[in-house]
Amino acid sequence: HASAISCFSQSALQSVLWLFIYLFFLRWNQKHVFITGCDSGFGNLLARQLDQKGFRVIAGCLTEKGAADLAAATSPRLKTLLLNVTDSASIRSVVEFVRREVGERGLWGLVNNAGRSVPIGPTEWMQLEDFAKVLDVNLIGVIDVTLQFLPLLKKAKGRVVNVASILGRLSLTGGGYCLSKWGVEAFSDSLRRDMQHFGIKVSIIEPGFFKTGVTSVDLINADLKRLWARLPQDVKDSYGATYLDDYIRMQGFSMNILCSPDISKVTWCMEHALTAQHPRTRYGAGWDAKFFWIPLSYLPSFVSDFVVNVLAKG
Ligand SMILES: NC(=O)c1ccc[n+]([C@@H]2O[C@H](COP(=O)([O-])OP(=O)(O)OC[C@H]3O[C@@H](n4cnc5c(N)ncnc54)[C@H](OP(=O)(O)O)[C@@H]3O)[C@@H](O)[C@H]2O)c1
Ligand SMILES: *[C@@H]1O[C@H](CO)[C@@H](O)[C@H](O)[C@H]1NC(C)=O
Repeated sequence: HASAISCFSQSALQSVLWLFIYLFFLRWNQKHVFITGCDSGFGNLLARQLDQKGFRVIAGCLTEKGAADLAAATSPRLKTLLLNVTDSASIRSVVEFVRREVGERGLWGLVNNAGRSVPIGPTEWMQLEDFAKVLDVNLIGVIDVTLQFLPLLKKAKGRVVNVASILGRLSLTGGGYCLSKWGVEAFSDSLRRDMQHFGIKVSIIEPGFFKTGVTSVDLINADLKRLWARLPQDVKDSYGATYLDDYIRMQGFSMNILCSPDISKVTWCMEHALTAQHPRTRYGAGWDAKFFWIPLSYLPSFVSDFVVNVLAKG
């Protein structure tokens, strides 16, 4: 008789345990998250990570191949869509798909992650359209996507997670990239204050340096050579014959030291911003961001200029 009771309580205990495990995974089951730029890097890892946790992930990819590879690596719950954030019509059709998908629940999370780095380099080597190419994706793209998703986010009292950078706090290089990230910081601050009334929370991710597509030295160097090659001879002369090679060598050297391969540090911050009861306004991602770049950004300009010069000249 006693053993029958203990047997009963054991199986009851087991069922309760299973119920908890089930509820734990069910927790995010009805929550939809839309992420831009899921072909590679942070966006790709975040999509897979949230899919595993039970979220209903809708992943925007720039290329067919990126979308197919992601779909093959994830559960059938995850949906992929083609999205080019510089193309308003492409955003409109994605919003339409998401609206049908989420129904009355609305959209819980929007992660503005898509971005590009090149053309990046000395300011004088740029033409106006080089700035525009980067600003169009990293800043205007973020604004366009956010504005078009706001009605669905308001419905869910959801979250917006914008990927800025430590380069949105400290301009380490010329070109549109730093400008675009400063813009993302400012846009996110306005958005956070304006949307507080509707219960929408806005978080900014400020990663340090990580090994991904945007920090690829092959990509950046190939583009630097293009910028150099089209400079008028007198401008080249003003820099000197070895400037480009020295620049490329120094940049390769420092990127190699600076870039961390552990991009889960960034996706952890994104996940926290989407799931925590009290998400933070800003997340410095990586040791370099937390303990070097962001503190440096608070110091007077003559100090940061000195430090940045020393780092650039080696
Ligand atoms: N890695 C770092 O050290 C670092 C640091 C701070 C901030 N960030 C930011 O983190 C975000 C993610 O970058 P990542 O480091 O993960 O590099 P990544 O692997 O290059 O990811 C960026 C993604 O955005 C996509 N993309 C580019 N242009 C697009 C467009 N017009 N429309 C839609 N998608 C577009 C890219 O597609 P393709 O690959 O097909 O071009 C790529 O999949 C970016 O906003 C970046 O600026 C990165
Ligand atoms: C994205 O859209 C822009 C403008 O609509 C276009 O110039 C660019 O080639 C597109 N990029 C890709 C990879 O399709």
